[in-house]
Amino acid sequence: MINNSYKEISGDIIKVIRKFTKKRNVPLHEPTIRNLDLSHVKKNLLSTQVSTSSSDTIKFENSISKFTNSRYSVAIINGTSSLQLAIKVLDIKDNDEVFIPSLNYVASSNATLYCGAIPHYIDIELKNFGVDVKKLEKYILKNCIYKKKKLINKKTKRPITAIIPTHIFGTACDIDQILKISQKYNLKVIEDAAEGFGSFYKKKHLGTFGHVGVLSFNGNKIITTGGGGAILTQNKKYYIKALKLAKIAKKEKNFWDYDYSELGYNFRLPGINASLGLSQIKNINNLLKRKKIIFNKMKSLFKKNNNYSLVVQENNPESNNWLNNIYIFNSNYSLRNKIINTMLKQGISVRPVWKLMHKIKYLSIYPKMNLDNSIKAEKSLISIPSSPSLIR
Ligand SMILES: Cc1ncc(COP(=O)(O)O)c(C=O)c1O
Repeated sequence: MINNSYKEISGDIIKVIRKFTKKRNVPLHEPTIRNLDLSHVKKNLLSTQVSTSSSDTIKFENSISKFTNSRYSVAIINGTSSLQLAIKVLDIKDNDEVFIPSLNYVASSNATLYCGAIPHYIDIELKNFGVDVKKLEKYILKNCIYKKKKLINKKTKRPITAIIPTHIFGTACDIDQILKISQKYNLKVIEDAAEGFGSFYKKKHLGTFGHVGVLSFNGNKIITTGGGGAILTQNKKYYIKALKLAKIAKKEKNFWDYDYSELGYNFRLPGINASLGLSQIKNINNLLKRKKIIFNKMKSLFKKNNNYSLVVQENNPESNNWLNNIYIFNSNYSLRNKIINTMLKQGISVRPVWKLMHKIKYLSIYPKMNLDNSIKAEKSLISIPSSPSLIR
């Protein structure tokens, strides 16, 4: 690749972003806050029901269930704690290994470690940046034994009991095939759909396929509660356990007489955050429409060339288009970084996809397969501004 191609590529991206906005500073993804949000939060504040026992928390859970068509939802303080709770709910034990894609946000690795389990890093496919199921199956056949419904890592002798596939940028990974391989090897499935609120796959909301699914409502997501998340499940037993553990496993006989049935967590979403969620969720269809318009406009503005392309997943039309991305052909870290730094100097927020999990020092000690596709994606992907506010 020619030396100054970074100038050409960053120049092209800047031109496209400037077609959306003339503002100098363009954030990567800013929340959409409307007057309705202010009145909902004000109403919550005036009611004084700001804490976890607020009826707004229950109302928000009901509206999540309604929108996602999930049988059960529990609103949680953030996506990371939702993952931690999901692991607990599925009874994944100390020293169990959990398959996690290396191309990822750090939450699923941390949540696994909080629970005493061990991340085991697997590769992604470049088609949708989700788990490469074919590669995983080959790897299992070579490196694991399946006996008495238990998958055992031959090298570490530890059981592998779960997989946490991530739906990246709001686009579905190959969840059908992931469910198949999980059934075959008796793995629990926790879908990390943190970025996927409003995304569907074959008309089903992301996060409703696995044993448990997880959402995030952090400030950078399509809708926000400031910080927040949720657990989705179709299984009553998992729901009851998740709700109990999120409410510190408190058993109330009456207002003052209570006990705790086990080690629980203070993880339920407070009412003040839920009140914001209640108004944000009312705007989701409008936001989804805007995101689609932005994506389609980008598709028409980025011209076909030999250096890069906008990431387009034709067979995944039900994405919430949370973050749009550029894929640099034949990229390397130096080229990627030069493009990013050039754009940041112009006030346009872009970022690489995450640092790969197996390259983070405290995570580098855990088992992993060959991760060539993840490395390719890490070098090649640049997320570009995608806020709904890019269009009027
Ligand atoms: C893929 C993914 N998983 C999990 C999380 C964790 O969510 P939270 O920030 O709400 O803890 C995030 C992001 O924030 C994410 O992008």
